Amino acid sequence: MSLTCTPLHPVLGAQAHGIDLTQPLSAQQVSAINAAMNQYAVLVFRGQALTASQQIHWMSHFGEIDIGLKRVFKRPERLGDERLIDISNVNAQGQVDRRDSPKNLSNFANQLWHSDSSFMKPRAAYSLLHCLITPSWGGNTEFADLRHAYDTLDKRTRRDAEGLQAEHYALHTRLLLGDEAYTDEQKKALAPVVWPLVDTHPGSGRKLLFVGAHARQIIGWPTAESRMFLQDLLEHATQHDHVYAHEWQPGDTVIWDNRSTLHRGRRYDISERREMRRTTINDDEHAHLT
Ligand SMILES: [Fe+2]
Repeated sequence: MSLTCTPLHPVLGAQAHGIDLTQPLSAQQVSAINAAMNQYAVLVFRGQALTASQQIHWMSHFGEIDIGLKRVFKRPERLGDERLIDISNVNAQGQVDRRDSPKNLSNFANQLWHSDSSFMKPRAAYSLLHCLITPSWGGNTEFADLRHAYDTLDKRTRRDAEGLQAEHYALHTRLLLGDEAYTDEQKKALAPVVWPLVDTHPGSGRKLLFVGAHARQIIGWPTAESRMFLQDLLEHATQHDHVYAHEWQPGDTVIWDNRSTLHRGRRYDISERREMRRTTINDDEHAHLT
């Protein structure tokens, strides 16, 4: 079978057809998917239920699966394999979790525009989210293309952003949400990293504006000025016309490139069960992204 894509939005995102996610991929299929990712940044596969091991196996075609923040948080998890990130409001005992639980705190942090693991080196390349159970209302995931954000910047702002470096900190989003209960050990394990504000996407060669909720400081700038500039750029990148909003159905699989996009979850009724599984690969020497 060969991959075909139908665009879902004028800027980014396409629905992918012709790939059975339960089957191993040929080298040609891997490169076709990478080429489509370089073009559309977000690919949507509809109506293919995946087991946990099928999801891990499929994602492994593109690199080694990373466990992200689990290195630091080490919370009890209900999904057996640590390579699966449980994007749900369900606790380790299988019950919908308390409104004020750490699990829901992570869910709220996911509702800020971000690129997965931008606070780490290496950062995330692809993330894949597979949908199992949707709530009756809300819970979309929205995506914005950072290359389009760069292309549509006015000349003056583009010149101002060029050559700057921004510090990304994992706990910045948590602190914004009023969560400060971290040990010194955790804080040290999550030391901030620095990325160029204007970067080049390796797959497409296009320039991009690497912003997001983890970016807290432009190196060498006063904090207030730097946070306002980052906020302005984030607003520009995520303006309504630039955003593809994915409405989930059980059996959906969405894969995106964290190096060229931002995403955020949208509000839903957290007393209703929502279950998704994420797998992520990093932009490192194990990645197969061409
Ligand atoms: Fe995310």
